[in-house]
Amino acid sequence: MLGKLGRIFGMGRPDEVITVKQGGDSAGDDGPLIRLSGVSKVLGAGDSRTQALENVDLEITRGEFLSVNGPSGCGKTTLLSIMGLLDSPSEGTYQLNGHEATKLSASQRAHVRNSEIGFIFQSFNLIGDLSVAENVDLPLSYLGIPSRERRDRVMEALDRFNLAEFASRHPSELSGGHQQRVAVARAVVGRPEILLADEPTGNLNSEQAEVVIEMLSELHAGGATICLVSHDPRWSEVARRTVSLFDGTIVDPDFI
Ligand SMILES: Nc1ncnc2c1ncn2[C@@H]1O[C@H](COP(=O)(O)OP(=O)(O)OP(=O)(O)O)[C@@H](O)[C@H]1O
Ligand SMILES: [Mg+2]
Repeated sequence: MLGKLGRIFGMGRPDEVITVKQGGDSAGDDGPLIRLSGVSKVLGAGDSRTQALENVDLEITRGEFLSVNGPSGCGKTTLLSIMGLLDSPSEGTYQLNGHEATKLSASQRAHVRNSEIGFIFQSFNLIGDLSVAENVDLPLSYLGIPSRERRDRVMEALDRFNLAEFASRHPSELSGGHQQRVAVARAVVGRPEILLADEPTGNLNSEQAEVVIEMLSELHAGGATICLVSHDPRWSEVARRTVSLFDGTIVDPDFI
């Protein structure tokens, strides 16, 4: 039933669990939490073959709040997908908390993604067959949290984003702005170590955007590492560093 989302919120607990939590795993204690070295990504084939990323070097330290900008098609979503273990580089290496991502098994990747990475998709990626509350509950269902606590946390997240009245509706019954807020609630409900947010306020009015900015700032204050794609200037108050992409390459921000 979950289709593509089944892959994103993939199943199964690996034999050897890896973690991105500080101190939970010795592999990456000294280095950056995220390290991309010479990462290139080719998408499509034949006439639609595109060099989405080219030789990207990027390090993100634990607890950083980084924003990524650049014109449409420059590779921002591709970059987040690789960081979020939803896609792999064509060339180069990606180390997550010192673990070489290509060496992780499918179930190890899925486990880290489900339990420690929150992803706000540009296209929301809500599951049409599930209600709003069930969509938000999805990440919690992989964390072994008792059902009463899950219910409380889902309701708290829905309240926070003024979505409580829509709890039993389905995504197709909601406006784009409401769907985006459900997607944000789903990404933050599990209090992830890493939050990857792709234009999380792109469909929101200023008041709704403010709630999302506050929420992400709180997560960051609690120690989460955040990588955000956005052109919204309000994020410049909270994002400590900005990286600019152009034609799949990191460039000086003044270049754009
Ligand atoms: N499945 C695909 N097959 C071929 N090319 C693709 C595919 N997906 C994306 N691309 C191309 O790869 C490049 C990078 O795409 P990406 O979605 O990462 O850009 P983006 O910076 O997120 O753009 P936007 O700001 O519009 O969201 C673009 O030229 C895009 O057209
Ligand atoms: Mg994009």
